[in-house]
Amino acid sequence: MSQAATLTHEVPAGFFENLQAHALSPGWAKKAPQMWPVPKPRFVPAVWRYADARAALDRACAFVSPEQAERRNLIMVNPIADNIYPTCRNLVAAYQLVLPGETARSHRHSPNALRLILDAGSQTFTIVNGVQVDVAPGDVVLTPSWHWHGHSNFGDEPAFWIDFLDVPLVQNLECMYFEDHPLRNEPIVGHEPDSALRNKGEDLERSMRADGTVDIAPGGLKTIGLQAIGLKRGEAQAHGKRIDNNIYAITAGEVRMTVENLGTADLVRGDVIVIPCWHTFTIEGRADWSSLIRVSDEPVMKALGFREVKAV
Ligand SMILES: [Fe+2]
Repeated sequence: MSQAATLTHEVPAGFFENLQAHALSPGWAKKAPQMWPVPKPRFVPAVWRYADARAALDRACAFVSPEQAERRNLIMVNPIADNIYPTCRNLVAAYQLVLPGETARSHRHSPNALRLILDAGSQTFTIVNGVQVDVAPGDVVLTPSWHWHGHSNFGDEPAFWIDFLDVPLVQNLECMYFEDHPLRNEPIVGHEPDSALRNKGEDLERSMRADGTVDIAPGGLKTIGLQAIGLKRGEAQAHGKRIDNNIYAITAGEVRMTVENLGTADLVRGDVIVIPCWHTFTIEGRADWSSLIRVSDEPVMKALGFREVKAV
């Protein structure tokens, strides 16, 4: 019809049913708004305690077999209705335990991943694309997208770490690929204690003591940004509303986080806090020396050209 029809105010019989049959929906009567003035995070700030997770993982050893070592982890599921996995919109974090003598079998996947080692004895290592990379407490070890990786604990102490991955982002983008290694455990063909994928805790601490906040392996993972933050007692950082989502894990001392819609939380080594986008927060050192790592989706926002257009 080329001319404007006369408005009758009456919906023709069967009109909406007909639309539905053709998978069409009327934009003038949306079921819910699809745009809003500023970011409206679905996820909420939340805290996880290493002591709780460690106790639960210890108990899980009684019934989670060594063959399932790569799955003996506890996922930090954001506590919102109907959520079964993400820690925040684009990232997930999990505590993992690998016992002495165990090997978590090798695989590769499109999601990027990193590990923050919390506790581990000697002879704990990750094999990335066939190269043995030793790990120690405080280290941040990267496994970029589609790199084979597996983990072994050949020492005599349990190894605990935190995994961080961009799985929720990859799921939303529908570009998930995953493959188990055909040999179960990838053969070791090299040994690089000083691999570029390993960011040693002692090196990070030296940098933090000199410069406060330092980037960890910039660009090492295309979707995940990493920083190490060192704080003297009483030293604080204040953040306004941001479009990136942030997970912080404490690596030393005691840190007080004060977060919009959460309140105040005092965190110690191994504790984790997630701060979804658009929440103001402050970070304060509560010990002579405290440190934490920041894991964020900031590189995604930057690469896509999104920024805080109404920063508060
Ligand atoms: Fe993996």
